[in-house]
Amino acid sequence: MGGAILHGVVASGLATSVTVTNRTTERAAALVGLAGVRSIALADDPGANAASAASADIVLIGVKPAMVPELLREIGPRLRPGTIVVSIAAGVTIATFQELLPPGIPVLRSMPNTPALVGKAVTGLAAGPAATADDVAVIRRLFETVGTVVDLPESQIDALSTISGSGPAYVFLLIEELTKAAVGMGFAEAEARVMAEQTFIGAAALLDATHEDPAELRRRVTSPNGTTERAITVLQEARLADVFARATDAALARARELAAGR
Ligand SMILES: NC(=O)c1ccc[n+]([C@@H]2O[C@H](COP(=O)([O-])OP(=O)(O)OC[C@H]3O[C@@H](n4cnc5c(N)ncnc54)[C@H](OP(=O)(O)O)[C@@H]3O)[C@@H](O)[C@H]2O)c1
Repeated sequence: MGGAILHGVVASGLATSVTVTNRTTERAAALVGLAGVRSIALADDPGANAASAASADIVLIGVKPAMVPELLREIGPRLRPGTIVVSIAAGVTIATFQELLPPGIPVLRSMPNTPALVGKAVTGLAAGPAATADDVAVIRRLFETVGTVVDLPESQIDALSTISGSGPAYVFLLIEELTKAAVGMGFAEAEARVMAEQTFIGAAALLDATHEDPAELRRRVTSPNGTTERAITVLQEARLADVFARATDAALARARELAAGR
């Protein structure tokens, strides 16, 4: 995910000088040659995290959640006052960052989703108490290089994650199921995939291009007493709204279990 954001930032020209660290030479080598990027492997330069953090205006933390505390202990003492620390680590609270960093360091917590890889992310962004409006604006621009940003209080980050964080998986599941229906209608797997996948991609592009309400776009496909209306009736009888509410509630309950260490 850090790599996706790096590519967005580089392509946008927003930052002209970025230092990236990874532990392994393989990961570091993959980022060599990006314009304005210095890519360092900790295997070659074990002090690179602390040294890079010491001269940074913004530090983006992109390691696995369990590794965050150790990393903050490593870089915290070297941060300059005013350096903005922004996290993409799921489940690690702003309070945890503040406990492990020097007082007054502005901290923001984000939750991007995987379409960041193609510049179509939805990123939830929550600011800690030390972050100023200018800090938030800078980090918002950073995430806008990979898509759309939703500002929200930290208390709503887990809820956002049940919609946009997990959401791509819900969409892929729907595509899988529509593909199965096409195979059931007698189409070969390859044809079925084209029909289902391109219909999702085309419908999403239409929504994006027109900015219409999805309910209105649906009405335009649905002639009174026609075939689509018959299918939509069956889908609505399956109480999809209820199914999505239960699915997102289950994801939220799991986020709370994870926060409690279960
Ligand atoms: N993937 C998603 O959809 C998604 C969505 C939202 C948030 N996130 C968050 O993004 C974070 C990373 O997830 P990911 O899926 O991108 O995992 P990942 O592919 O394993 O990326 C973690 C990166 O951190 C590097 N790294 C590990 N320890 C390091 C250290 N001490 N110093 C510097 N670099 C270090 C790793 O490189 P080496 O292996 O070379 O060490 C690797 O490139 C997680 O906190 C996750 O919660 C992910």
